[in-house]
Amino acid sequence: MSTVVKTPPQVHPARAFEVERVRRDFPVLHQKVHGKPLVYLDNAATTQKPLAVIEAIENYYRQDNSNIHRGVHAPSERATEAYERVRVAAQKFLNAADTKEIIFVRGTTEGINLVAQTYGRKNVGSGDEVLITALEHHSNIVPWQLLCEEKGAKLRVAPINDRGELLLDEFEKLLSQKTKIVAVGHLSNALGTINPVREIVRMAHARNIPVLVDGAQAAPRMKIDVQALDCDFYAISGHKMYGPTGIGVLYGKTRLLEAMPPYQGGGDMIASVTFEKTVYNRLPYKFEAGTPNIADTIGLGAAIEYLNELGLDEIENHEADLLSYATSKVESIPGLRVIGTAREKAGVLSFVMEDIHPHDIGTILDSDGIAVRTGHHCAQPVMQRFNIPATARASFGLYNTRAEVDALAAGIHKVREVMG
Ligand SMILES: Cc1ncc(COP(=O)(O)O)c(C=O)c1O
Repeated sequence: MSTVVKTPPQVHPARAFEVERVRRDFPVLHQKVHGKPLVYLDNAATTQKPLAVIEAIENYYRQDNSNIHRGVHAPSERATEAYERVRVAAQKFLNAADTKEIIFVRGTTEGINLVAQTYGRKNVGSGDEVLITALEHHSNIVPWQLLCEEKGAKLRVAPINDRGELLLDEFEKLLSQKTKIVAVGHLSNALGTINPVREIVRMAHARNIPVLVDGAQAAPRMKIDVQALDCDFYAISGHKMYGPTGIGVLYGKTRLLEAMPPYQGGGDMIASVTFEKTVYNRLPYKFEAGTPNIADTIGLGAAIEYLNELGLDEIENHEADLLSYATSKVESIPGLRVIGTAREKAGVLSFVMEDIHPHDIGTILDSDGIAVRTGHHCAQPVMQRFNIPATARASFGLYNTRAEVDALAAGIHKVREVMG
């Protein structure tokens, strides 16, 4: 009798990740839109919030609401403690060396503007250059344009290829003595391209140029280690990582933050004030003027805890499975072209359809309860690079399922029938 050796069943990462259990944590997902179950595939725009985040904010307002850093009374001490605990959580989340390198801001946009208006205004002068890439979101373009306009400096743009990948050689050629800062996205919201940030930092640092990384789309999808990346600044948004709107984090290296002037003036960012002279507070408070967004900071803390519990590696695997499943399903649809086919890619599936405007795609999908984004995704130069006005974009989150991808594919077939 021959023995049959059975190979153990392959445990697919997407199966190991208990997505149905995860979905129960998100009240918004359990609704019908136009009579169909909501299929939420607009996660690059903003993510839904788990109960842990919603309850953390509610509990703060119910039990602890108070201003921070000032009161001697118990609620103020509780609020201060809760707020500062999130700073520690954010430090660990990004693997920053110190909590003083964690500055709470409104989001990625404000984080980038802060650096442009402080580090940039101090260090960029007439004839200097700021180097970005052709993949950037408007929030990593316009703050640098404003700075360059004011200072008589030049914005340089490293090109991408037809897959939507940064041309590293071209990038390196653009680095020069004139380059005063490099600002790059970690993960493109329009194409899903993951930039080789470690390599970019290595090239820039070899010429003593600091690097800011726009981490808005990377933070919810992959483990971030700012010390391993060795970047000088890293900006993230709470609402893209299952936390509230109106709160984000700017990481900055201590040495640079110490040398930068404050961003805004007001309460809390000072050590002492007279009419003659103000002495600024120590880091990170020097950059946090006025009463901060305490409630949403606490909500962000709950989101970080939630992501940590699920595990960024598991989330990354789960989304990678959804992206490859979705790509293979839609690629075979006649007349459909995927925009952005980088070898290193995550989270985002942008596409166009022959003779059908993305707006119509979005509207027809919506009639089936499927939420995708259509437009230029705040990355008009990316659209110009591909010679298109807009794309339809499905972007995945930790709660999405293969069944939802099937619904998307069926919806796109319907678009073809209706518009074809
Ligand atoms: C890559 C990227 N950078 C920056 C931003 C801006 O983030 P926020 O609007 O949260 O400041 C976004 C938002 O879509 C983004 O996708």
